[in-house]
Amino acid sequence: MRVSRPTSTAALGDRSLFPRLAFDAYLNHAGIGPASVVVEAAVGLVLETYATRGLHALPQWIDDREELRKKLATLVGGRPQDIGFVTNTSHGVGTIAQCYPWRSGDRIVVFSGEFPANVTPWQRAAQVHGLGISFVPLDDFALPGGPDLARLEAELRHGDVRIVAVSAVQFQTGLRMPLRAMADRCHAHGAELFVDGIQAVGVIPLDLPALGVDYLAAGSHKWLMGMEGGGFIYAAPGRAERLRPVTASWLSHVQPGGLAFLFDGAGHLRYDRGFKGDMSFTESGVSNSMGLAALHSSVDLLVALGPEAIFDHVSRFLDGLEAPLVERGFTSARLSDPARRSAILSVLPPPGHDLAAMAKALVARGISVSTPDGYLRFAPHWPNNGATELPLILDAVDAHLKEASA
Ligand SMILES: Cc1ncc(COP(=O)(O)O)c(C=O)c1O
Repeated sequence: MRVSRPTSTAALGDRSLFPRLAFDAYLNHAGIGPASVVVEAAVGLVLETYATRGLHALPQWIDDREELRKKLATLVGGRPQDIGFVTNTSHGVGTIAQCYPWRSGDRIVVFSGEFPANVTPWQRAAQVHGLGISFVPLDDFALPGGPDLARLEAELRHGDVRIVAVSAVQFQTGLRMPLRAMADRCHAHGAELFVDGIQAVGVIPLDLPALGVDYLAAGSHKWLMGMEGGGFIYAAPGRAERLRPVTASWLSHVQPGGLAFLFDGAGHLRYDRGFKGDMSFTESGVSNSMGLAALHSSVDLLVALGPEAIFDHVSRFLDGLEAPLVERGFTSARLSDPARRSAILSVLPPPGHDLAAMAKALVARGISVSTPDGYLRFAPHWPNNGATELPLILDAVDAHLKEASA
């Protein structure tokens, strides 16, 4: 007996799928995407099927996951076999960092200012595999007229760099990285580009093969609007076969006949089958069925709305917020080049204003924002509505500025 996973229709700027969201403006999708009623229902349904059918619920959710794999592949421009499920971004970064076919003397390039989930696993790989690791400043890319790719290229010219690891979008400033240009430089010097995609996938259109990205990992709990404990990893064609599955278990093996020992009687238990040569090798044991069903129901909405339309919607929201904030004395970290903009607007408060106090005051007034690394961050998604929310945000900002200056 199969049940239907919940689906719904959605419209840009309409938050009726989030009836219990306790903020007038929820601008924290770069932190945690709130659960829609569809996501809640998907989690509930998985639980119910296991409560009523136990083992007999399993096949449905295995099949559902394969459908999700296809949809995620389409979302980022890959093939289903290029996608593996992981428990979070860190799991995806660590998988490549540990399974990469390193050679003695190899070096990794990371960026200072990155979220640590895209630094720590590389530092650990450098320790375990005896590799070099170098930092390039993100400021190279953030400052108009800065060195941009020059310093990265200088590192690559040494010829020993194998992996350059960068986030598609920087978590604190919202700076969108020039992935195509970075991938080109990497490939010209025998290196590959690894991308932490969690601040981009689900809100920014991405075509990974066209960008030349070699690997990408993204957790599901931000812009993909699933739950914590899920996510995916992508590897471009030809990469998965070269990875070494340094940790592996019973579901890492090639599948044909692989489950016969559970269903087809005695004599099928074997330990000599090879490992899967595609990215599903990351799924070494049973999966997070609830998290992946939640992600699936959210991805259905994202695909129906369309990444281009979503990003356009969010960009218009942020345009409408940036100018009045700058008028009020805030300093925007958003670059003027649209190609370097994301779904995040980060600002510094007017001189003399305390960032933490301001964020606390906004949250208390029903405006959910956060303060990563010294910035005030606004991160709207498809349900946010500029017409109704922008006046509320600016009223809350004005009320706080008045109170704080009194
Ligand atoms: C760029 C970036 N990478 C990774 C993460 C989170 O990593 P994980 O999914 O492993 O918790 C965040 C935010 O929490 C982030 O902003």
